[in-house]
Amino acid sequence: MHRNKAMRFKKGTGLLLAFGILLSGCLGGSLSKNNSGEYKNGLVVSAHPSSSKVGLDILKKGGNAVDAAVAVQFALAVVYPGAGNLGGGGFMVYRSASGELATLDFREKAPGMASRDMYLDSAGNAITDKSLYGHLAAGVPGSVDGMVKAHEKFGKLSWAEVVQPALDLARKGFPITDSQVEEFTELQEEIKKYNPGKSYFIKEKWEKGDLWVQEDLAKTLELIRDKGREGFYAGIVADQIEAEMKSGGGLISKEDLKNYQSQWREPLVGNYKDYKVITMPPTSSGGIALLQLLNSVEEYPLRRWGHNSDSTVQVMVEAERRVYADRASHLGDPDFYKVPQKYLVNPIYSKYRMQNFNWDKATLSSDIKAGEVPKESEETTHFSIVDREGNAVSLTTTLNGGYGSMVFVKGAGFLLNNEMDDFSVKPGSPNMYGLLGGEANAIVPGKRMLSSMTPTILEKGGELFMVVGTPGGSTIITSVFQTILNVLEFDMDMQAAVNAKKFHHQWYPDVVTFEKGGLDTLVRQKLEKKGYTFKDRRAIGRVDAILKTQWGYYEGGADPRGDDTKMGW
Ligand code: DON
Repeated sequence: MHRNKAMRFKKGTGLLLAFGILLSGCLGGSLSKNNSGEYKNGLVVSAHPSSSKVGLDILKKGGNAVDAAVAVQFALAVVYPGAGNLGGGGFMVYRSASGELATLDFREKAPGMASRDMYLDSAGNAITDKSLYGHLAAGVPGSVDGMVKAHEKFGKLSWAEVVQPALDLARKGFPITDSQVEEFTELQEEIKKYNPGKSYFIKEKWEKGDLWVQEDLAKTLELIRDKGREGFYAGIVADQIEAEMKSGGGLISKEDLKNYQSQWREPLVGNYKDYKVITMPPTSSGGIALLQLLNSVEEYPLRRWGHNSDSTVQVMVEAERRVYADRASHLGDPDFYKVPQKYLVNPIYSKYRMQNFNWDKATLSSDIKAGEVPKESEETTHFSIVDREGNAVSLTTTLNGGYGSMVFVKGAGFLLNNEMDDFSVKPGSPNMYGLLGGEANAIVPGKRMLSSMTPTILEKGGELFMVVGTPGGSTIITSVFQTILNVLEFDMDMQAAVNAKKFHHQWYPDVVTFEKGGLDTLVRQKLEKKGYTFKDRRAIGRVDAILKTQWGYYEGGADPRGDDTKMGW
């Protein structure tokens, strides 16, 4: 876990390097594992073996995909504290076996006392550390309310049954993985800095196989199990959050907690060839951007050109450059900003945007602006689940950076997010992922910050086809895009599509980052001659996905870049 090192880089200086270290840090791990297998009755693919086991046990017990999703979300808050959370937020995309669709936005919100220029100094410069570290970086958490709403609408087992496994993991402890030993050891200093006087998480030396017991967190989960929403947004935990905020100069109040509501949103649905793509609308930028990317490349013969060939990479990079320029200008919380969604996801718009690219020469990002649209009327973890009936959940949840703001709520045993950095702190000033933004994503009290999280479900011929998503900050959108194309165009199975080396371009910085060894040297040289700049980096994404095969089996893709595990039956 290298987030601490990454954060020493100031925005603008060494940004790319910081960006790479940070993401590889929050995504972790080596590229060594391979899980295989096909399952008929259900499958869970999540970031940690203990959370996947919780999900599988719930499915075997007769729970449906949403029961398992709620149980996995809470389990991740215990076993995967870098991104799993009670103090963060996320998005869920749901498709029932009969084709009913739903998308839930449980993204954090700006506190009532937040203000547009809260991260600027007196000269108007962005003070990036404040939106990234400590109490001021945290938005009002959405995960617990999200899980309550998801369960109320679709759950089959009782609430207590789906919360209990996480509570057991916190109270009885769970064995930490080898990569966690390393990560937790490296984290000590940073955690101490932001949590003076608190003993939580502080252990000088972690050993392989250590059982980690978290009694404070167990008490919080007990309150959530017994009181539902009120167990977190009112009473003891709300008092603890407010006290924590007061002790560290944060802004979240009990009023903010009381007022927080997650929101069902109209699912965003598009098409790519014979496939229906069901994805997350704003407050995520991911769904719109994914549909725009698919629309942009649909008419090109990618299958004939082949995976990561020069023409394939060139077309995908040019599409990404244009789509991320649109993201910076046109996307933000739809409750506060009129997002020109219909216009952006219209395939004709993407064709028009791709018209001006030149096969002989890379387009310069400085020559690309967001498209003109008519005035109509912005550390993470992902899991994918299918149950025996064929209901499917695609859920991405985050604290933003690995371990969020680094602030543990005293006595409550959980971390708060640093999601405020996903707002555009100042137009033209990049966030931690180097993403730019403007008015659409400016800070307003009660507004949700724009996200790139892209939980997605694909249908073919009216049947479930794929469940997919990933962490990775700004690279989330392009990783989901590539994973889908790897299966649809390049005939990879689910695991191979997840394993395949990925690349990324996001308009600015004007550079294509490639997972080391992912691009053939001759292809790279050919594209460099046309003006493309490449940078190697470590892991991109941690995709956890499920594919329904033509024989009706579920095939999982658990990302070998981390401890991600598929468990089915
Ligand atoms: O919502 C977003 O777009 C970011 N907060 C996601 C952060 C993330 O994926 C970090 N993990 N690697």
